[in-house]
Amino acid sequence: MSSLKNKKIIISAGASGIGWATAKVCLEKGATVFICDIDKKYLSKAKKHKQNNKKLFVYECDASNENEVKDLFLKINKKTKKIDCLINNVGISGPTGTIEKLSSNDWEKTLKVNVISHFHFTKLSIPMLKKNKGGSIINLSSTAGIFGFPLRSPYAASK
Ligand SMILES: NC(=O)c1ccc[n+]([C@@H]2O[C@H](COP(=O)([O-])OP(=O)(O)OC[C@H]3O[C@@H](n4cnc5c(N)ncnc54)[C@H](O)[C@@H]3O)[C@@H](O)[C@H]2O)c1
Repeated sequence: MSSLKNKKIIISAGASGIGWATAKVCLEKGATVFICDIDKKYLSKAKKHKQNNKKLFVYECDASNENEVKDLFLKINKKTKKIDCLINNVGISGPTGTIEKLSSNDWEKTLKVNVISHFHFTKLSIPMLKKNKGGSIINLSSTAGIFGFPLRSPYAASK
């Protein structure tokens, strides 16, 4: 991968898993990285990393909550008006079971986190990408979205 010097990247749910691994690579390549997460334990680990890297910005935010995402973007906009890339990484596995046994709340929550959160982040990133005169939006999918997974209907539908 070539240098990401001067690039500004937002990663949803970036304090652990694939999001954190991506954030670390982007930082190593010279980018400024804005991550959010819902988990206080992962956030505090990321904040420790931040002490040694001034290009990492860490925020608490539930990506599926529109008001929290708006608040997050207000904070990011105080640091930068332009971004080069949004990585819609947030995703939960959701419940496992036959449709007749799953609750509508669990179904809705999975779609809210895996799909609607991407809408919130994309909507608020587009003005920042336009100011940058271009950029990339990367949405994390899964083979579950191509082949489907037995007993994982909300995850497969969302992906
Ligand atoms: N891990 C895999 O094998 C795999 C395979 C295919 C696709 N994916 C996709 O890649 C993405 C990342 O997967 P992962 O395995 O790293 O995830 P993960 O389960 O490890 O979770 C990563 C982070 O998401 C955070 N998170 C959960 N809900 C949140 C919310 N509402 N707001 C903010 N943060 C929230 C968690 O606190 C955690 O830090 C997901 O979209 C997932 O569907 C993962």
